[in-house]
Amino acid sequence: MPLYHKLGNIPPKRHTQFRKPDGSLYSEQLFGTIGFDGMYTNSYHEQRPTQVKEIKKQYNLAPKIAKANHIQSYRFRGFEVTPENDYLESRKTVLTNSDCSIILAAPKQSTKDYFYKNTDADELIFVHKGSGKLRTHLGNLDFKYGDYLLVPRGIIYKMDFDTEDNRLFIVESRRPIYTPKRYRNWFGQLLEHAPYCERDLRRPEELETHNETGDFLIKVKKQDDIFEMVYASHPFDVVGYDGYNYPYAFSIHDFEPITGRIHQPPPVHQTFETDAFVVCSFVPRLYDYHPLSIPAPYNHSNIDSDEVLYYVDGDFMSRNDVDAGHISLHPAGIPHGPHPGAAERSIGKTKTDELAVMVDTFKPLQITEEALKIADEDYFKSWL
Ligand SMILES: [Fe+2]
Repeated sequence: MPLYHKLGNIPPKRHTQFRKPDGSLYSEQLFGTIGFDGMYTNSYHEQRPTQVKEIKKQYNLAPKIAKANHIQSYRFRGFEVTPENDYLESRKTVLTNSDCSIILAAPKQSTKDYFYKNTDADELIFVHKGSGKLRTHLGNLDFKYGDYLLVPRGIIYKMDFDTEDNRLFIVESRRPIYTPKRYRNWFGQLLEHAPYCERDLRRPEELETHNETGDFLIKVKKQDDIFEMVYASHPFDVVGYDGYNYPYAFSIHDFEPITGRIHQPPPVHQTFETDAFVVCSFVPRLYDYHPLSIPAPYNHSNIDSDEVLYYVDGDFMSRNDVDAGHISLHPAGIPHGPHPGAAERSIGKTKTDELAVMVDTFKPLQITEEALKIADEDYFKSWL
């Protein structure tokens, strides 16, 4: 997160004595990424954050690959993923490569009896349906429809949902997820031509501090295994922190679209970047205004990127028979484009209400067994 944030109480100088009312020391933790080179936060805990009591269980969560190599376009009906009570069990990986995984989840219940920590990957959680509160050891964020929640690796968290009707589109990234570099000046500030600015990024303002000891279960994901670790102190015991590494939220509804006289390429929709994939937001916007413009996209060969589009809401002008919750996968190596009739149909239209999230990966994605359960195997013939 390229924005300094301070929450709670911290001492005036880092790595110095910071004492509780009873005279004992708070426990300081440096929480950073990319060794000592990436973003970091210094947090101050009631208890030492190192007190592992027991490692109870270890089990593997690696997705089962159905198609490792393929060149077929697919459609997946995301809302056909079965809702499940438990948050972690509800997460179904549908597409994956060594850099990232794309996960669909329909959790019904809040995480109550455990905490979760992903040490493998940053998590970008897009809220398609539902609302609630993301609770983390570095503060809480309320969420609702249209929010991206960016949870950096290592954040201990819980999800509180307001109802049982929730749909999440999650990207797990083994590479750090940043705001696009070209939208930042060399101080890190978002530039005038960026489609959003710092005011649109919601930082945690509510810090939960539980000074409790006992048995606290954290399900820790590492190398695709879950380790059930019991800690002797409550993981949410931070009294204050400052730095750049913390969870934040951004609503897709706050993305200001960039439009032009002729069709604008996908990079104008870019919202997040990594060195392995990009995330774009397609939001309601005015169409191209050249008198001879064709608002539908041209056929395109992103010859070395797989393209995943997750359809959220509105009317998907370039596609026939696409509904909310669907995913289209257009693999690298072959062209794709508007469906038959879509280019003509788009001429003269002045605006679109479409809302979609796109993930373009530089390495091919593998298709999992979970994906095949909701796949439309004939989609690749839909341009005939
Ligand atoms: Fe495309």
